[in-house]
Amino acid sequence: PKFKVLVMVGSLRTGSFSRMTARALSRTTDALECEIAEIGMLPLYNEDLEKEGPPQDWIAFRDRVRASDAVLFVTPEYNRSIPGCLKNAIDVGSRPYGKSVFEKKPAGIVSISTGAVGGFGANHHLRQCLVFLDMPAMQGPEVYIANIAKYFDDQGKITVPETEELLRKFMAAFTTWIDANHLPRHARAA
Ligand code: FNR
Repeated sequence: PKFKVLVMVGSLRTGSFSRMTARALSRTTDALECEIAEIGMLPLYNEDLEKEGPPQDWIAFRDRVRASDAVLFVTPEYNRSIPGCLKNAIDVGSRPYGKSVFEKKPAGIVSISTGAVGGFGANHHLRQCLVFLDMPAMQGPEVYIANIAKYFDDQGKITVPETEELLRKFMAAFTTWIDANHLPRHARAA
């Protein structure tokens, strides 16, 4: 694979459609090595914890983001915004001040929903965070998948060819985006 992509899934539940979508996205390409980052065990961000050596899970998570070429967010929408687990992971990776592991990392966003709106609110609230984090976020193709439950079978495979094709196109465009925007490893902050 050309690039290492850390995938951040905004849902912690076992049967998550976001996670299924993340897996389906990674199956569409050999150019990207996609790994899902576990974020459910990250302690809630609290600046006090930085003082005497941050929690081990924070350190490991920050290292994983640092070692990746890009970040792919696959998320549902909670109350028209991003789920708390995802926001917490973003907050953890963004600190200490001046040492954000996200800075300049190319990003892609896919939002999903069991409802009709496709996670538009979450998708765009997330974009607001990425502006502040100085992550170049791919703008198109946009992917908002509404009524997500109807696209997967019991094995987590996509049943609709047009949807699979959309995911393939997204990942091809994302590969080009990473190619144009990633920092060479030697240029990254330690
Ligand atoms: C939701 N859901 C939801 N859907 C939506 O389209 N807009 C929303 O604002 C919300 N809000 C919301 C809040 C909370 C707390 C939950 C648990 C759910 C429904 C959501 O789309 C659905 O549960 C998805 O299946 C969640 O994604 P995963 O867990 O399947 O990845």
